[in-house]
Amino acid sequence: MHFHRDNNDNKDAIKSLDYIQQAYPNHYLIVTGDIADDGHEEQFENAYSSLSKFMNSDGTPKVFICPGNHDFGAAGNFYSEERAVRFDAMLTKTLRQGGTFTGDSTPVVNILKEIKGAIITEVMLIALDTNIESEHPFDFACGEVGEKQLAALKNIVLNPSTSHMKKILFFHHHPFMHNDPFMELKDARDLLRTIYSRVDVVMFGHKHVSQLWKLRNGIPYICNPIYLLA
Ligand SMILES: [Fe+2]
Repeated sequence: MHFHRDNNDNKDAIKSLDYIQQAYPNHYLIVTGDIADDGHEEQFENAYSSLSKFMNSDGTPKVFICPGNHDFGAAGNFYSEERAVRFDAMLTKTLRQGGTFTGDSTPVVNILKEIKGAIITEVMLIALDTNIESEHPFDFACGEVGEKQLAALKNIVLNPSTSHMKKILFFHHHPFMHNDPFMELKDARDLLRTIYSRVDVVMFGHKHVSQLWKLRNGIPYICNPIYLLA
């Protein structure tokens, strides 16, 4: 969405979010990063104004987010700890995501439960931070899950107590983009090995091109989130 400081520059994002909120009031929304354009305070305020409409009356969220390189970095290329901390303070916490992204290496997990008669359906949403907290622009432009986050993810997807749950994994960087040092997810191969046949949907962002892969890497749906899965 790349929210800017001036709401005149956010008309498309605001209009799209308002449309989704009105047309799909009982759906959940997943946003795969680059919510702000360069992590300025007013950009997060503007984003929060639209995203906070996706909250239930009991204060629980219907919107789930992860950070992109533009949320943590000036121009998307220069990592700033100040901006990363601000993302958590102004969006992750206020949108009640149940965890934080900055500085820790564990995924943010939420479980949605739907009860219809005797049937209980549980869906696990797993959000990753694939930004590299590096001051060097060459490193920061691309993404990485990181060993610690990957180990934590492995524990989550292998946990037998969650085997009945559908699992949706989402993060910012493109998992199939190789040989592009400024775009690729450096440890995509390790990530895909970890989640092989263990999650139901993977969503990502970063490159503004929508695409859908079915039954790749043992995963039913992998997509850029411009696709809405009915
Ligand atoms: Fe991005």
